[in-house]
Amino acid sequence: MKDIKVLISEEKINNRLEELSKQIMEDYKGKDIVFLSILKGSIFFTVELAKRIKNNIQFEFIEVSSYNGHESTGTVKINKDISNLIEGRDVIIIEDIVDTGRTLSFLKKYLSTKGVASLKICTLLDKPSRRVIPIEADYIGFEVENKFVVGYGLDDDQNYRNLNYVGYIEE
Ligand code: IMP
Ligand code: MG
Repeated sequence: MKDIKVLISEEKINNRLEELSKQIMEDYKGKDIVFLSILKGSIFFTVELAKRIKNNIQFEFIEVSSYNGHESTGTVKINKDISNLIEGRDVIIIEDIVDTGRTLSFLKKYLSTKGVASLKICTLLDKPSRRVIPIEADYIGFEVENKFVVGYGLDDDQNYRNLNYVGYIEE
């Protein structure tokens, strides 16, 4: 087990989840929403956020990879595609962290071919200092500095996803 320091506590995350859910309910009044969750990192965020939203939510999952260890490889590939039509739907992409921006710019382009009614991005974390492709999320939980973070769904080579806080590895 590596030395992991708490960066964002569970309590802070819960408070922010309340705020984000209120904002989303305000913006999507009377609408059904499709949460398009990016596996695997955003599963905790997806579930905890959805539980706080009163709108009817349908779930789609897509698995992409662009990462080998700690370094982005620059190419994004779909490992598991969505299983239902999202044409005409109000879709929110749920992401764990926006880093270089490659994953989301790829997904935005890919989803623009699916005829969605609207598309927004909601991310738990944003690391703007690492951006290679300019892309902004519509809903952001927390901005983080340039540290490699784990927990609350985020992994270090598939480890530490189930921490109930966001931590960083002391390197
Ligand atoms: P991007 O395409 O560079 O924006 O990378 C996005 C993906 O890289 C995220 O969905 C994460 O899975 C992964 N990632 C980026 N930064 C971190 C980090 O600090 N910890 C864990 N995973 C990360
Ligand atoms: Mg991810």
